[in-house]
Amino acid sequence: MSEPQIRFEGVGLTLGGEAIYDDLSFSVERGEFVCLLGPSGCGKSTALRLIGDLLAAKSGTVTVGGKPPSQAWQDVAFVFQSPRLAPWRNALENVLLGVELRSGRAQARQSEARARELLALVGLSDSAHKYPSMLSGGERQRVAIARALAVDPSIVLMDEPFSALDPNTRRRLRSEIESIWQRTGRTVLLVTHDIEEAIVLADRIVLLSNKPTRVLESISVEVPRPRRLSGHPDLQALRERLQRLFQSLETQPEEL
Ligand SMILES: Nc1ncnc2c1ncn2[C@@H]1O[C@H](COP(=O)(O)OP(=O)(O)OP(=O)(O)O)[C@@H](O)[C@H]1O
Ligand SMILES: [Mg+2]
Repeated sequence: MSEPQIRFEGVGLTLGGEAIYDDLSFSVERGEFVCLLGPSGCGKSTALRLIGDLLAAKSGTVTVGGKPPSQAWQDVAFVFQSPRLAPWRNALENVLLGVELRSGRAQARQSEARARELLALVGLSDSAHKYPSMLSGGERQRVAIARALAVDPSIVLMDEPFSALDPNTRRRLRSEIESIWQRTGRTVLLVTHDIEEAIVLADRIVLLSNKPTRVLESISVEVPRPRRLSGHPDLQALRERLQRLFQSLETQPEEL
């Protein structure tokens, strides 16, 4: 089998004197869509920071495409909970921002056609000239997704990218992410604490415990896409099981 795109092996990490992980191991295969699900504070965002080389593990190893994160940052792009757009740049210029920061202005100018394609991919072809203040919350998040894809990453890390959006926009963007993933073949690691989101999107759900965090379960979801929970007994049973597990994590942190 080929090397996983992302691998955590026996990772230990202490922050502010508190053990966040003492032995965290999981991996994500190339082209896989994995949702990292777990209670608040268990270290989901921290895991993305380790992958993106924004933080170093104390023990164990993290590899990205078989390399240490410090040598792999160019393969990785982030989408955060809030879009973090530059207010003085229009949508197109924001999409090009990542390219400009990584490869310089000349390269960014050459990537303009690609940036327009990406804006079309997220349904914003008519909004390239708009500044963030002229865009809705969902539209801003779409710009952030196009910006992440513009650097042509092999891995897209998303940290609760839909949680600040209204339910309809959230559903629409979820299915857009799903179809972008199907068309582009990227590896996606998406952090969420929304159980339904994980069930609808993931090839595999990695469920994390309370701190010190370990993997409680790795659950493959093999139902074909697009998925709808209503009228699908297997998915509903999975939701109920995950809800029960989640409740026990929230109410009995010391026992798990
Ligand atoms: N710089 C830091 N110094 C000290 N503690 C930190 C630091 N960064 C994160 N932590 C702690 O590490 C733990 C994991 O944080 P993290 O942000 O990864 O959680 P999370 O799983 O993403 O939670 P949420 O679902 O609420 O976003 C938390 O207990 C947090 O308080
Ligand atoms: Mg977080």
